[in-house]
Amino acid sequence: MSKKILVLPGDYIGPEIMAEAVKVLAAVDTQFGLGLELEYGLLGGAAIDETGVPLPDETLERAGAVDAILLGAVGGPKWDNVERHLRPERGLLGIRSKLGLFGNLRPAILYPQLADASSLKPEIVSGLDILIVRELTGGIYFGEPRGIRTLENGEREGYNTYKYSESEVRRIGHLAFELARKRNKKVCSVDKANVLEATVLWREVMEEIAPEYPDVELTHMYVDNASMQLVMRPKQFDVVVTGNMFGDILSDTAAMLTGSIGMLPSASLDKDGRGMYEPCHGTAPDIAGQGKANPLATILSAAMMLRYTLASPEAADAIEAAVSKVLDQGLRTPDIHSEGTQLVGTVEMGEAVVAALAS
Ligand code: IPM
Ligand code: MG
Repeated sequence: MSKKILVLPGDYIGPEIMAEAVKVLAAVDTQFGLGLELEYGLLGGAAIDETGVPLPDETLERAGAVDAILLGAVGGPKWDNVERHLRPERGLLGIRSKLGLFGNLRPAILYPQLADASSLKPEIVSGLDILIVRELTGGIYFGEPRGIRTLENGEREGYNTYKYSESEVRRIGHLAFELARKRNKKVCSVDKANVLEATVLWREVMEEIAPEYPDVELTHMYVDNASMQLVMRPKQFDVVVTGNMFGDILSDTAAMLTGSIGMLPSASLDKDGRGMYEPCHGTAPDIAGQGKANPLATILSAAMMLRYTLASPEAADAIEAAVSKVLDQGLRTPDIHSEGTQLVGTVEMGEAVVAALAS
């Protein structure tokens, strides 16, 4: 049975890192006889340049027809001046929302080889293995009403709406508990229930579903404290479940614990486990076109895709082992480079992973 993948390289470093992930996919395809079929589409700035909109209908249609989507990164200064509703990020938010990809998994795992690359002391981060489960299609990112209006006194006012329905909280809660069951059986739900009613309800719903998972421990933490605890004592966490905006912020922090955001993959799943896979980092316009970007987050996203949506756990394991092997060999892109290791570029890193797969 063939497995169709829609590849959306995106903008700036997007196409560079994606090229390496595609090489790795081709290698595991041959090695494991997966029958992968790749097709390419446009999203974000690349789509604006070609078609005038960040999420062309054609991309959406094809995204709905394939088994999985692999995305590079979208956005950047080139499109800073386009109208708000046409910004590249709107394409990303649109595809997440239209495909119902509510469950965003962002694992922050410290590869022991990179303990030095973290800005925190090795003993704080060694062995780190956290999974951030971010709600991705609701909350303040999508709440209506929203906009910028002019008040009667002539002053402008920007406004957004933070809201979550019970069912939205329940489905992300169930996902987090299910995932915790396969890990260390701890869920920490992050909210701001001391101030925001929307998160008072969030906390209540988490408590309501907890009894269905007696084997999993549920705790709650305010988001400000969570941001502090993440850098103070990150290993206290197993699964962290939170809303869209808090998850966006905390996952960048969690990423840096591991040395570089260039290492962090993600999966965005719908209710049937179909999904879109993308690195957590952005398009890095400052280094685009220079062959310096770290392709590992995208390569690891491809591994997550094989595991979660394409039911090929052996191929996923093989990619993850190959990444670990190139790190053992001391190969480092600039974002994870430290003394005594070998500086390599995007292409060398991708090709080293392919070589490690074969060895
Ligand atoms: C992310 C990104 C996006 C988000 C941006 C590019 C819209 O920061 O995936 O974390 O905020 O969700
Ligand atoms: Mg982000």
